Amino acid sequence: MNRELDDMFELIKKLCNSHGISGYEDEIRDVIKAEIEGFVDEIRVDKLGNLICIKNGNDFTQMLTAHMDEVGFLIKHIDDKGFLRITPIGGWFSQTVLNQRVVIHGNKGKVYGVIGSKPPHLMRDEERKKVIEIKDMFVDIGAENKDDVKKMGIEIGNAVTIDREVVKMGNRVTGKAFDDRIGVAVMIECLKKVETSSTVYAVATVQEEVGLKGARVSAFSLNPDVALAIDVAPATDFPGGETANVEVKLGKGPAITIADASGRGLIASKKILEWLKTAGEKAEVDFQLEVTEGGTTDATAIHLTKEGIPSGVVSVPARYVHTPVEVVDLRDVEATVKLVSKAVEIAEDIFKF
Ligand code: CO
Ligand code: ZN
Repeated sequence: MNRELDDMFELIKKLCNSHGISGYEDEIRDVIKAEIEGFVDEIRVDKLGNLICIKNGNDFTQMLTAHMDEVGFLIKHIDDKGFLRITPIGGWFSQTVLNQRVVIHGNKGKVYGVIGSKPPHLMRDEERKKVIEIKDMFVDIGAENKDDVKKMGIEIGNAVTIDREVVKMGNRVTGKAFDDRIGVAVMIECLKKVETSSTVYAVATVQEEVGLKGARVSAFSLNPDVALAIDVAPATDFPGGETANVEVKLGKGPAITIADASGRGLIASKKILEWLKTAGEKAEVDFQLEVTEGGTTDATAIHLTKEGIPSGVVSVPARYVHTPVEVVDLRDVEATVKLVSKAVEIAEDIFKF
């Protein structure tokens, strides 16, 4: 593996091993800030918690976004025996959640817990076939009663994240929170490399997973000439994935979104597509085109801001999105950095009239 991919792996580890569900992005925001400092002229945090990084330039302004929140849970109930009940923050498939090890972000620091379940030994035949819903699951933090829980600094409203560290699998990596810390990694690397005379706003947004909230307010305040959301695209190249009839594969380069959520999210304009395809060609990277029925990105909120902001999406293909075992190919991450950097470089020529 070459040095660039090694550096990328280290950055991905740092970002994805950090924690922060929607609305609780403090830890990950500090990690990102430390990585970006020195590569931009100004960094500020807005009222909703977005991290806004500015590279000064002329009056043509472009906005890059990658959301820093991850899917997780909030504690909603603590019972007398010391077990916790949780509510999902972001989209989870319940079968993914069962028996995961989790981190509870308590008032006295991190506490580990497990999402327990009845072992097969104790199950009746009909129980084995049933999917358990998240509302029926519980977190065991080793407490013996409610008082114990309190002593550990845990209370209703504490955030819960998955406990899973990034590891390498050949040219690929696996871990949690790839959606969208991989996008954040791309944005950071792009800021380090890109050369442009225009002004660049790079925004690590909050609360994307619960309604594109950070993108909405930051786009309103920055009102850029053009915007690009960097995210992950659910890949379909695994057994059974092909039934989705979406052509996004690992190792084939970044995906450019034509339309998402069957057009209810973003329908990229011809100009946006011309911009991103040209960037891909000039950067000499393979790219894929994506039309999906589900899922949207920050661009959905941004493009409807004020009188309309031309917006696009470039994504790193990722398998098993919204699970603790997401997988991306480091070569795709690197290729996405190249495409996005080139897009930033040529944006002014394409969009300035
Ligand atoms: Co997501
Ligand atoms: Zn995302």
